[in-house]
This record gives sequence, structure tokens and C-alpha cells, in this order.
Amino acid sequence: MSRKYEILADNVHLSEDGKSIIIVDQTKLPNVLEYLTLSTAQEMYDAIKSLAVRGAPAIGICAGYCMFCLAQQNKGENFDDFYAQFLKDKEYINSSRPTAVNLSWAVNRIDKMVVANKDKSVAQIVELIGEEAIAIQKEDIAMCKAISEFGLSLLKEGDGVLTHCNAGPLATSRYGTAIGPMLMAQEKGINVKVFADETRPLLQGARLTSYELHKAGVDVTLICDNMASMVMKNGWVQACFVGCDRVAANGDAANKIGTSGVAILAKHYGIPVYVLGPTSTIDMNCKTGDDIVIELRDEDEIRSKFYEQPMALADVKCFNPAFDVTDHELIAGIITEKGIMRPPYTESLAKLFEE
Ligand code: MRU
Repeated sequence: MSRKYEILADNVHLSEDGKSIIIVDQTKLPNVLEYLTLSTAQEMYDAIKSLAVRGAPAIGICAGYCMFCLAQQNKGENFDDFYAQFLKDKEYINSSRPTAVNLSWAVNRIDKMVVANKDKSVAQIVELIGEEAIAIQKEDIAMCKAISEFGLSLLKEGDGVLTHCNAGPLATSRYGTAIGPMLMAQEKGINVKVFADETRPLLQGARLTSYELHKAGVDVTLICDNMASMVMKNGWVQACFVGCDRVAANGDAANKIGTSGVAILAKHYGIPVYVLGPTSTIDMNCKTGDDIVIELRDEDEIRSKFYEQPMALADVKCFNPAFDVTDHELIAGIITEKGIMRPPYTESLAKLFEE
């Protein structure tokens, strides 16, 4: 029997009855491929907060499905009661992480659609929320493919690419953004070499990027974050491809902590840095990177996580920002599903949104 809800991507999808979300628990990779079922608002919030589901587009996709599953649990029988609970659920899910704009983008998109259909029955609105959430994921798949094609157009046989954090299929749906071009190169028989920063402190590069690329047969070398300079100096890197969590109207781009350091190094060695992401990651309401809220995470992620025993005294002060902002002046191009945006970004991004 065919499923009512097609599995569009393994990492995030609806359960067979559409009442829960099934995700790959990314905190367990690469050692165990385990799935989590998210049914309650608390489970959904925790999965996003704990990075069981992570990566800006995947968070947005998951948030869309959260709104659908929670809408089915909503007891409101008329629009006003339904919408009051909908807004509570939306605020709760939206508060799970602050930096990736895809989260608020997805829940706001569904909110707008709900308001536009307020004259329909609650049952019809719930159905429409499901359709909108599925559309978000389908669009992401198409956008990642287009982004990967544009990214691939910048690479040639034998090139080396450095990437930071994880912007692959786990962080999106299929292909990914920043590692999509290399996965596509592999499919087309073009050999590229990837250097994956391990990405302290949560090791998305080691645990997820090297896992995804290695499994796909791409030539990937894992390095510690502080080895990037040497790899660049050796002439092994022709481009840096990184993802993004929120891009401001002037092209400043927030991505995983350490990305701005990569870009500063790349400038020193004359290597172009490309930021890859769907237009849903561009926030024209943020004028510059200074407007982007940076998530601060638990200090123990630095002190003790992943170590057999703590590597710092329990009361040593730590600073653990999850993201940093790369100055637009360090970015050679922003690769979206609509093409490669070039500086000055205030003009190219504004034009993108006019269209
Ligand atoms: O904290 P994370 O793992 O969610 O951070 C993810 C990143 O910084 C990614 O590079 C970004 O979200 C782009 S994913 C296509």
C-alpha cells in the first residue's frame, strides 16, 4: 500500500499517519544511525534545541512539519480558538533556536497561509498546513539541486574545496548547499578533493560532513579547525564553500562559529569564499550582520562534551557562541537557487527580492 505521506528525505519526514515527525538523530552520528519520533511540542522543541535535527534548511522543514502535527492536536473548534493555540505552538517552536532564519521563515509562512484561509473550516486549514509543510520540503529539494549546480559551475577537475560545519543532505533535504556541488561532482565523475574542518565544539564537520562525503565516495580529508591555514598555504584549496544560517541585506553571513576565521585566512591566501544557501536564508530585515542574534550554548559543550573526562575545570569560564558573522567584504559570491550573487550585495540581493 502506498504511503499517504511520501518520504521526501530520510533525515526529516512525516510518519505514515502524518501525526508525528521522524528524524535521523544527528547527535548519534556517525556511530549509530538512529531515528527519533517527535509527537509532542516538547519533543519537537528539544530535538531542534539539542541539534538532533540541525542545519538551517532542515530546521525550517522540521518546523513546518511541527506546525502540521501540532495543528492536528489543536482542540480549537472555530478559527479564533484554533488560531490562538496555533500562535502559542508557533512561538514555542520558534523559540528553540535563534540564529537560523529558516525556522521563523517556515512558521511565519504557514501562519500567513492560515490567516489567508481563515474563512475555511478548521479541518481544511489543518489539511492546508500539511500541504504547505510538504511544499517547503519539496521546494528545498529543488533549491538545493539548483544551488549545487551553480556551485559546481565554479569547480574544475582536481580542485580542492574547504568546507566548515555541515551543509549537506542531513542539514537540508538531499544534496545540501555547501557540500552539494561536491556530491554532484562525484555523480558526474568530476574529481574534487574536500577538506572538512572538524568544527569545534560540536564536531558537525567530523561527525556529519566527512561521514556524508565519505559514504558518497568523495575524496574527503578531515582536518582540525586550526589546520586550515596550513592546508591553504600548501595550495590544496582552490575555493571555500560554506553554508549560512542568516544572510543580512548587505551580504554579511552568519554561519557556524569559525566560518569568519576561515574567510579571513582565505583572504590572506587569495582563495575565494562562497556562501551557499537558499533565498529563504536571506533576511532582508537584517540590514547588516550586527542585527543577527547569535545563539549562545551550554559551556559544557566546550569543557566536557565528547571527552572521556572533562578537559577543563568545571568552574572555568567559557564563551560558546554557536555562530559568527562573516563580513560581506570577505565573500566572493552568495550562491542561491536563483544564481550566484556578486558584490555589492546591497544591490544584488535587493534585486533578487524585487524579482
Ligand atoms: O548549529 P548547526 O549545526 O545547526 O549549524 C549549522 C550551520 O552552521 C550550517 O552551515 C548552516 O545551517 C547551513 S546548513 C545547509
